[in-house]
Amino acid sequence: MLLELKDICKSYPQGKEMVPVLRNINLNVEKGEYVAIMGPSGSGKTTLMNIIGCLDRPTSGSYHLDGQDLLHYKDREMSGVRLNSIGFVFQSFYLMPKETAMENVCLPLLYAGIGKRRRREIAREALERVGLGERIHYKPSQLSGGQCQRVAIARAISNKPKILLADEPTGALDSKSGAQIMELFQTLHEEGVTIIMITHDAKIAKHAQRTIRILDGQIVEEAAVDAGEARETAQEAARELSKPEKTAREAAKKASVPGEPAGKVLQDAAPAKSPVLQAKQDKAADSFRTMKGQEEHAKDTKQKGPESEIIRSWSAKRH
Ligand SMILES: Nc1ncnc2c1ncn2[C@@H]1O[C@H](COP(=O)(O)OP(=O)(O)O)[C@@H](O)[C@H]1O
Ligand SMILES: [Mg+2]
Repeated sequence: MLLELKDICKSYPQGKEMVPVLRNINLNVEKGEYVAIMGPSGSGKTTLMNIIGCLDRPTSGSYHLDGQDLLHYKDREMSGVRLNSIGFVFQSFYLMPKETAMENVCLPLLYAGIGKRRRREIAREALERVGLGERIHYKPSQLSGGQCQRVAIARAISNKPKILLADEPTGALDSKSGAQIMELFQTLHEEGVTIIMITHDAKIAKHAQRTIRILDGQIVEEAAVDAGEARETAQEAARELSKPEKTAREAAKKASVPGEPAGKVLQDAAPAKSPVLQAKQDKAADSFRTMKGQEEHAKDTKQKGPESEIIRSWSAKRH
C-alpha cells in the first residue's frame, strides 16, 4: 500500500472551541492508482490534501506513506518527503510570473540541491513530456491557462514523485484545456504515476478509476467508475477535443473503454462547432474562469502571495 490513512481527524480552533474539519478519515491508495476526491466546498478536501501532501498534520490518527510512519517526523523531514515524494498541482498554477517555463520547472530541483546542468536537463525532459518542448523559454504571461497548468504539471513530475496531488487542477480552465489536462493525467496514470485529484466536478472525477466522496469532513461513499461511466467520459473527451480530429481520436483511444473500439466512441461524439466561434468561447471562458478561480482559491487558502503555497511545499521554513 502506498498510502494509508487511519482515523485521521483534524480540528481548527475557533474562539475557545475546536471545530472538527476532518472526522475519522480512513483511506488506502495503492501504487499506480488514480483516485478522485469529490465533495462540496468546505467539506474538507483541501485540508485532507494538505495532510496527504505533508503540508499539514492531523490532530489525531496515523499516516503511512510508502511504509514510512509520518506521525513523528520533524518539520525538516516532512519537507524532505514533500520534495522527494510528492508533486503538487493547484487550481491557480502558482507559477513564478517573471520566470520562464524552464526556470519554473527548475525551482523545486534547486531546492532539492540538484546542480544547474542536471536541473535544466530534467526540466527540459519534463516540459517535453507535457507537450511544451517548444515553449520552454516562454513566461506564464505568454502562455494560455492550459499551458500554464502543463508547466505546473511538468514542475510537479520533475522530481519523479510517488504521488501527484492535484487540487482542482481544471478549476481555472475552460473545458477544452481541462480536457487536455485530463488527457495528460491519463497518460501519466498509464505510465504508472499515482494520482490523487480533488474536484467538485463529477465530469472531471469520472476520469479517475475510483471516486471518494467527502461530506462534512467524513467519507460518505467510495465508488468505482463502471464501464458505462467510463464510456461517457470517453465520449465527452472526444467532443471536447474534436478539433483537430486526430487529437480526439487519441483522446477516445486513451479513455480506454472496455469492449468499445475507439471508432465507435468517435462516431458517437457530436460534430465540432465553427473553429472561430469555439476559439472566441474558449477565450472568454478562459479569462472568466481564471479570474473566478483565482478569487475563489485566494478566499479558500487565505494566501498571502500567489506563489506561497507551492513555495511552502518545498521549504521547511513556513511549516
Ligand atoms: N487554517 C484553517 N483554520 C480554520 N479553519 C479552516 C482552516 N482551513 C480550513 N478551514 C475550514 O475547514 C473547512 C474545510 O475547508 P477545506 O478543506 O478548504 O474545504 P474544501 O477544500 O472542501 O472546500 C472549512 O469550513 C474551512 O473554513
Ligand atoms: Mg479546496
